[in-house]
Amino acid sequence: MSVLRLTCSPRGTESESHRLSQFIVDALARADIERGRDVIEIDANLLAHVDAEYARALGSPADPDGDPSGALRQSDRLIQSLAEADYVVIATPMHNYTVPSGLKAWIDHVVRVRSTFSVTREGKVGVLADRPVFVAVSSGGLFSGAEARQPDFLTPYLKAALATIGLKRLTFFSVEGTAMGGLALEAARLRTQAAIAAYFAGATDAVAEVAIQASIHASS
Ligand SMILES: Cc1cc2nc3c(=O)[nH]c(=O)nc-3n(C[C@H](O)[C@H](O)[C@H](O)COP(=O)(O)O)c2cc1C
Repeated sequence: MSVLRLTCSPRGTESESHRLSQFIVDALARADIERGRDVIEIDANLLAHVDAEYARALGSPADPDGDPSGALRQSDRLIQSLAEADYVVIATPMHNYTVPSGLKAWIDHVVRVRSTFSVTREGKVGVLADRPVFVAVSSGGLFSGAEARQPDFLTPYLKAALATIGLKRLTFFSVEGTAMGGLALEAARLRTQAAIAAYFAGATDAVAEVAIQASIHASS
């Protein structure tokens, strides 16, 4: 089983969202215990922004000839690691109601015309095989439920961006209201951990199905 984990907080492995994502990675490993797990880690904050050559290539009818360099090469590698993953786990904080800049940089590298989506008369069509994507979100305030006092552009944006390339099986878990700290934060953590445990207790069939697909793929 291979898991691609993208850590998007500037606080890296110390972050609340990374901490939350670990419960998902551990649950995936338990659900597929026989094959163990292979976790490919990407720190989205280390990605360079797309460059001029990349922008020119995406606006042209074809990619440039020759060995890719700069952002085109980084994009090739990121797309390959995404295409090879059985599961994707995205650990991200909410920044200004949406995704942080590191996650946006990753999206700009993997949502790429001719590579991960095609343009048709009906619109953009994703070319990646669909697979489960788990999103672990952390936010200082609340963005869901009746007490939320801010908009949430993160959830619909991520759904739209990843659906463009064929990834439509997104599941979100969030620890909201981290700014409250203390007991309120601890209670939010425990609620979300319980939600993850409940999800995976009921999702064994879906995880097994992905494991079977992956072993068919590996042996073909
Ligand atoms: C630049 C920046 C913008 C932020 N914008 C929001 C926001 O729009 N809504 C919110 O609830 N929290 C916001 N926060 C707070 C973070 O979401 C919160 O501290 C979160 O727990 C950080 O998670 P992390 O430890 O995974 O980085 C922002 C924090 C930063 C640094």
